[in-house]
Amino acid sequence: MDQSLFTYDIVAEDPKTHARAGILHTPHGDIETPIFMPVGTKANVKGIPTETVRALGAQIVLANTYHLAMRPGEDLIDELGGLHTFMNWHGPILTDSGGFQVFSHGDAVKLTDDGVRFIATDYDGSHIFWTPEDNMAIAQKLGSDICMQLDQCPGYPATRAYVERAVELSSMWAERCYAAHSRPDQALFGIVQGGMHLDLRLRSLRHLEECGDFPGYGIGGYSVGEDHETMFESLTPLASEYMPKHKPRYLMGVGNPTTLVRGVGIGIDMFDCVLPTRTGRMGTAFSHEGRLNFRNARFARDAGPIDPQCTCPVCTGGYSRALIRHMVTQKEMLGGILLSMHNIYFLLDLMRRARQAIIDGRYAEFQQEWMDSPAAQDY
Ligand code: GUN
Ligand code: ZN
Repeated sequence: MDQSLFTYDIVAEDPKTHARAGILHTPHGDIETPIFMPVGTKANVKGIPTETVRALGAQIVLANTYHLAMRPGEDLIDELGGLHTFMNWHGPILTDSGGFQVFSHGDAVKLTDDGVRFIATDYDGSHIFWTPEDNMAIAQKLGSDICMQLDQCPGYPATRAYVERAVELSSMWAERCYAAHSRPDQALFGIVQGGMHLDLRLRSLRHLEECGDFPGYGIGGYSVGEDHETMFESLTPLASEYMPKHKPRYLMGVGNPTTLVRGVGIGIDMFDCVLPTRTGRMGTAFSHEGRLNFRNARFARDAGPIDPQCTCPVCTGGYSRALIRHMVTQKEMLGGILLSMHNIYFLLDLMRRARQAIIDGRYAEFQQEWMDSPAAQDY
């Protein structure tokens, strides 16, 4: 399949780390990496209108194939002109396959070589069987710019045998997704699995490279309950020594600011996570002082912004910590919305500054400054 619309240009490499700055071309626009991608699982970034998502600096958003297939269905979205029109987001969109969601939401999940059988307990309880071909057909109908292969994400801890089986299954499904995928205006990314075992990660990567010329690679199966050092032990060599240099590397489901900063340093280009919106809705803000919980009474009389160093529309727009705390404790929905906006901006801005540091050849210093700052402490 010709995927020449999705070239990836590396524009700068940091001299002391593995960080790189790049541009990923897509039919709906260019993406400047490293980048954080806000998550719009059910065709919306929770609480935030798309023009605001854009104004915060987002260049690409996520949506989820599983959730959209359940409701409102890919046929309806196709009938209404495809996912970009349906979401009212005309920039690049990445759809995750939903394999991950099936494991976290589905009930009675059964894996066979041929696909995944599950009960959609978070919808109408219907019994569903999905093959990799089914999953590709849905993704292609949705028409995202980038879709992810169907994969199996083993949790943590898991036995080596279980992880090995997940790698085999994911490799088999990668081949079938690759064969079934035919839209030249949509990129299909393979996903590297292998848990915390570097040798299984390398096996998974080798399978993907043998399978075909994927225009990019997801790294799945991290941030599933392991501690940070355990994660970086296998992730660091995988990303910095073994992943192909000229393809974008996407660390899936990771959104902790410190993990982003360290991830960029080992050569990760793309990240996504529900963390900024989910924790925002729960009353928590990222800040340069570390996480702030707005249920805390210490903010009751605080007239300052969420984060005095932040240049987001909320922090520069006159919304006080006292007002945010009031809205959060009174369950006023604007509290969660403003915190979600601030949190998304925080990660987008962090990646913008990281990119500039790479271009200026001072990413090692940028990373060290972050690691020494109070913000890195509650990681
Ligand atoms: N999101 C976070 N982790 C994963 C993963 O391992 N696979 C998929 N498909 N999505 C993810
Ligand atoms: Zn802010």
